[in-house]
Amino acid sequence: MKREKIFNKIKSLRQELSNHNYNYYVLSQPTVSDYDYDMMLKELEALEKEHPEFQDLNSPTVRVGADRDNTFMQVKHDYPMLSLGNTYNFEELKDFDNRIKKIIGPETSFKYACELKYDGTAISIKYKNGKFFQAVTRGDGEKGDDVSDNVRTIRSVPLQLQGNDFPVTFEIRGEIIMPHNVFKELNSEREDIEETPFANPRNAASGTIKMKNSAEVAKRKLDAFLYFLLGKDLPSDSHTENLNKAKIWGFKISENNKQANEINEVFEFINYWDKKRENLPYDIDGIVIKVDSKYLQDELGFTGKSPRWAISYKFKAERVASKLLSIDYQVGRTGAITPVANLEPIQLDGTTVKRASLHNADIIKELDIRINDTVFVEKGGEIIPKIVGVDKSKRTSDSAETIYISNCPACNSKLVRIDGEALHYCTNSLACPPQIKGKTEHFVSRKAMDINCGEATVNALFNAGHLNNIADFYKLTFEQIYNLEGFKEKSADNLLESINQSKSIPFERVLFALGIRFVGSTVAKVLAKSFKTIDDIMQANIEQLTETDEIGERIAESVFNFFRNELNIKIINDLKTAGLQFEIIESEGETNILKGTKFVISGTFTKYSRNELKQMIEQNGGKNTSSVSKSTDYFLAGENVGPSKLEKVKKFGIKIISEDEFVEMIKEQP
Ligand code: IVH
Repeated sequence: MKREKIFNKIKSLRQELSNHNYNYYVLSQPTVSDYDYDMMLKELEALEKEHPEFQDLNSPTVRVGADRDNTFMQVKHDYPMLSLGNTYNFEELKDFDNRIKKIIGPETSFKYACELKYDGTAISIKYKNGKFFQAVTRGDGEKGDDVSDNVRTIRSVPLQLQGNDFPVTFEIRGEIIMPHNVFKELNSEREDIEETPFANPRNAASGTIKMKNSAEVAKRKLDAFLYFLLGKDLPSDSHTENLNKAKIWGFKISENNKQANEINEVFEFINYWDKKRENLPYDIDGIVIKVDSKYLQDELGFTGKSPRWAISYKFKAERVASKLLSIDYQVGRTGAITPVANLEPIQLDGTTVKRASLHNADIIKELDIRINDTVFVEKGGEIIPKIVGVDKSKRTSDSAETIYISNCPACNSKLVRIDGEALHYCTNSLACPPQIKGKTEHFVSRKAMDINCGEATVNALFNAGHLNNIADFYKLTFEQIYNLEGFKEKSADNLLESINQSKSIPFERVLFALGIRFVGSTVAKVLAKSFKTIDDIMQANIEQLTETDEIGERIAESVFNFFRNELNIKIINDLKTAGLQFEIIESEGETNILKGTKFVISGTFTKYSRNELKQMIEQNGGKNTSSVSKSTDYFLAGENVGPSKLEKVKKFGIKIISEDEFVEMIKEQP
């Protein structure tokens, strides 16, 4: 193909993909199958790879993010990012309405724009000549962080606008949110590795947008609603009409925005959403009311740090009072202790609440929560309700300060608290019953060994003395299961069959199933791919573990210590004897050309992305490591490699190879 033809093809693929993106992520009305979309994307990726001269920062191929560290640049906002005044009742809204009427005069008619108040993190995005230019966080309102690389991964944010009637430059502001389903999945993954879950979708969204690696951000599936245009040449005086235009240009504008002719219609909107908000797939914490005319907005101006032309009405967080009857201390699979409150049953958000989270010892102390106290319970985006305060006026004279437990409630071992960590731990991991049961439940779970054995059966097997560790599953006999309460011939056979089938579960899932602290499914995959066999992981020292891409000190120490424990070694030997998979199975297209070689990748490349090069190394049996050491075999260097790194490479006498040399290297010999 001639260059011009290729460029035209690239342009038309980009346009087509961006239309499909808009239909899918903004309108929720896809017009092609996922397969066709992927094929088109692959074609574009291939063409861009062959012709790096046509690379474009705003190509739909950037949505997967780049696997490198972002250090954010501080950017001054062209227009400060202000906050809104809050109101909590209709009286205050009436005052707001009266203030406006007084300033603009009774003869001027005007409309309000009513919008949902999205509970996420604010973002300001600049467009130049119809292209995404820069995205900046709110920061202190004057200056924020340039998080462009991260925002580019959000599929509902257009990189190239549609049509041609947009201003040459303008800014659009909105809220980055994490939808409930994404939030739940993310937190369940964090719980799998006993990482503290995010308290609510708002924290998860703001934490994600500040992540250093945009490839990680891309995986978190954020979304964005846009609600405010700024610039000199906006199409209309009406805020609503401008947003309608923005929708045509490709932005995600809420379907729920409504114009109101007078304040009573605003009240109707609020009443409607106060009830309906529980059906939304994301959190809102109120309603925003804006004077619709830009001209009048300018007339009204600002007071201090918020506009006179807009205000927010905040929904009251459902909060109820109840009596704290007792505190349970739960022991997790890794020995982490979580305090849980038992409450006098109360109604909250339409459900009966009997238990609430007390988080940790510090929070109990800070709020001075005591048994028999009247406590306030709230439900936000959290999974279980939490105690947010104490009504001290109702406290009786015999109340006593809560003394946090110092011994494990299950096995009585002394609890320890590691410096800097919020939770206490029981370290008797090998004999503490809830830890054994927790480890077993994790082992059988769907993402791990997928054995058809619920909590009740684990309990029954444990109580009958048949299950002292995970390896005991493979020693269970038909009689032992059959004799459990509720089991019949068929159900006992089924469980045995399910245990038998788990022997073919691939190595990375077996590794995850072992329940090593901080080794979630993603880390298990990385370790399995990198070391290939359990024996190699067991023999690795901390240095070799941290050398592995994506494995930090904390994970490395946890893995190293796990395999220095005699009982763990015995369990693994038993599992090996049972026939579980402890080696990675090479799949089609994989070779052993690079077996035993360690690579460090650095710089920017023209033909492949860093991620692709890493994948190619792994697929050919090599290992990616994060830093240069004397055991590094090859330094795969792109452009702009830092001088200090190069110096180290030369000092160790490591072989430096280019992208082309690398591609040559992995070509299979005929
Ligand atoms: S308009 C000058 N509209 O609420 C006013 N803000 O306290 C610009 N927010 O910082 C903001 N939904 O992060 C506006 N529909 C909406 C909103 C909204 C959520 C957030 C935004 C802002 C904060 C105001």
